[in-house]
Amino acid sequence: MTKEERLERHKKIHEILRKHGQEILLSHSFIKSHSFIQHGDMSVYEHSINVAERAIRINRFLHAKCVERDLVRGALLHDYFLYDWHIDGKEKGNIHPKLHGFYHPGTALKNACRDFVLTEREKDIIKKHMWPLTIIPPLCREAWVVTLADKYCSAMETIGLHKAKVRVKQIDISETDN
Ligand SMILES: [Fe+2]
Ligand SMILES: [Fe+2]
Repeated sequence: MTKEERLERHKKIHEILRKHGQEILLSHSFIKSHSFIQHGDMSVYEHSINVAERAIRINRFLHAKCVERDLVRGALLHDYFLYDWHIDGKEKGNIHPKLHGFYHPGTALKNACRDFVLTEREKDIIKKHMWPLTIIPPLCREAWVVTLADKYCSAMETIGLHKAKVRVKQIDISETDN
């Protein structure tokens, strides 16, 4: 694949992200997640965009026929817990940072239902994205794809391989006029 083809593909992914995710991307609370760290020095905001983009790519690569709007919105909101889980999680219902993995899908779902009107698929994505920690597996293909995308992105972000890409992404998103 040439550099131009790669850029074209990247542009297309962003178009899909903006088309389906605009309501969330422009919301005050989602933008606020910029100040919460997820992995390394990666914010929850950056991580969520990473996961949404990866989910779109996986869906297309596997021809999984996911409903793209649900896939994008669920991916953007999958970590919508809205606190710094390293510091003040306890006050927000996160019993201990070590237990964050078990409890944050429930908190994210509660917040997302409060701020947005969600489909059942979007709810399943948020609720199950930490599977197998959630024990009950995802019920729809969109939730499986986001679960996979989240694990891939978390690993890449932890070892620092996603950093440069995300900076470019932020600029693209902020320039949206859709
Ligand atoms: Fe998560
Ligand atoms: Fe995540």
